[in-house]
Amino acid sequence: MSEISKDIDHILIGENEIEVRCRELAEQIEKDYIEAGITPIVVGLLKGSVPFMAELIKYFKEPIEIDFMSVSSYEGATSKGDVRIDKDMDLSAHSKNVLLVEDIVDTGRTLQAVRQLFYNKGAEDVKIVALLDKPSRRVVDIEADYVGFTVPNEFVVGYGLDYNQLYRNLPYIGVLKPEVYSD
Ligand code: IMP
Repeated sequence: MSEISKDIDHILIGENEIEVRCRELAEQIEKDYIEAGITPIVVGLLKGSVPFMAELIKYFKEPIEIDFMSVSSYEGATSKGDVRIDKDMDLSAHSKNVLLVEDIVDTGRTLQAVRQLFYNKGAEDVKIVALLDKPSRRVVDIEADYVGFTVPNEFVVGYGLDYNQLYRNLPYIGVLKPEVYSD
């Protein structure tokens, strides 16, 4: 067995930078919810959001509920942006103020569909926080309310993001060596 870090060409965002940004994001998000007099339910989209969500919620000082959900996108008959729920939340989203936690907004299709899904569940409000944003890839009109970092149009792994289900456990965001794809 060899270390997965040997497959990384370069680090894009370091561990310390991510931690600092998570603290800033949490403080900003909490301030906005407190000002609005709202207690959110924080819902992570599995599996990519796990490290980001764990880091983010450490810095919330007020009580919050947390939950997780797993969806997969598929090409529906009429649109490419349909999602199927693989694992639903345990808690109810009805009348709740949902803060959706996502690893990356790429084309935006997943988040657009998931946000609608929460409104269909009767959520009062849905806000989105994404660790990464790749705006150059967007095909639908959706923006996260809070973004950790904007990244260029490169495939990234680490801090929850995978390639073939691997590399999620890297503590930083990195770019894979080209030969990793050609195997
Ligand atoms: P979207 O529906 O195109 O916005 O897709 C978002 C999902 O695609 C993310 O939740 C990731 O699972 C995956 N994804 C998009 N870009 C990357 C990347 O650079 N690395 C790893 N996964 C990615």
